[in-house]
Amino acid sequence: MFWCILVKLLRFTMFNKIMDKEIYEKITKRKQFSQLRKIDVELAWEHFENKQLSLEEKIKSTRNLLGKSFVMFTSKRFLKDKVFEADWILKRHSSTSERFDHYSEIYSRIFSRLKGNFTVFDLGAGVNAFSVKYLPPKTKYIGVESIGQLSKISKIYFKENKLNNMESYHLSLFELDKIISLIKKNKNNLVFLFKVLDSLEFLKKGYSKFLLKELSPYVDFFVISFAMKSLVKKRDFKVDRRWILDAFPKEFVLLDQFEIANEKYFIFSKK
Ligand SMILES: C[S@@+](CC[C@H](N)C(=O)[O-])C[C@H]1O[C@@H](n2cnc3c(N)ncnc32)[C@H](O)[C@@H]1O
Repeated sequence: MFWCILVKLLRFTMFNKIMDKEIYEKITKRKQFSQLRKIDVELAWEHFENKQLSLEEKIKSTRNLLGKSFVMFTSKRFLKDKVFEADWILKRHSSTSERFDHYSEIYSRIFSRLKGNFTVFDLGAGVNAFSVKYLPPKTKYIGVESIGQLSKISKIYFKENKLNNMESYHLSLFELDKIISLIKKNKNNLVFLFKVLDSLEFLKKGYSKFLLKELSPYVDFFVISFAMKSLVKKRDFKVDRRWILDAFPKEFVLLDQFEIANEKYFIFSKK
């Protein structure tokens, strides 16, 4: 009797694992999804797994959601293991192209308000890692990105250019413990969240506020940015970004806000 139940249980777990693996593989077949952190794929799947849809429809809807969070900014030509020239990629990637002519202005506006040398944690970095030459000297840079290929090309760029103070980690922003342990190891921490909070909200509503709260004990400054026009269709967003002012933990104050090249920035400082 005992063995019978055990065998059934084993079969049940094996079957479900095979199913899960198959679903996962189907979802991540496209090159842009192929190296996403698994937790992001699972979070997207959770939106549809219990809906009254066929398996194929669930997979398609999951892919569409992942597309909104990740892929629509990154064309396949950036997903190659090769050395990219920094200005070339910054000018061409949809997230950085409008910012390209303004990097010095943006970073000097941010850093003119801060004293000392900082460790920048660029969360959801995309290809912004290629902008490190515009940061003040002695800044340490740590990029975090869920698309494995983007994290890899950032690492290649740092290595080729002997930028020993710069790192990139292939992690999801939902892997909070790992992110916190990275931040904890450093001092004078400044977190960039450039045009990434919308993506997090697509996968988990309310996560931005939670993330800010959880990171806040280990962070001295946050710089948050939002696109004021859609990155793809370039239409004005009819959304109010002021919710960010209420989303911040009480220990932080708004130090500055400005808009440059269709991007709105908010700088928050620990009191
Ligand atoms: C609009 S792009 C902005 C890229 C960069 N911050 C910039 O402004 O140039 C959003 C980026 O966030 C990344 N991203 C979205 N959700 C993420 C998550 N859960 N974990 C890590 N990265 C994420 C995407 O892959 C993409 O590279």
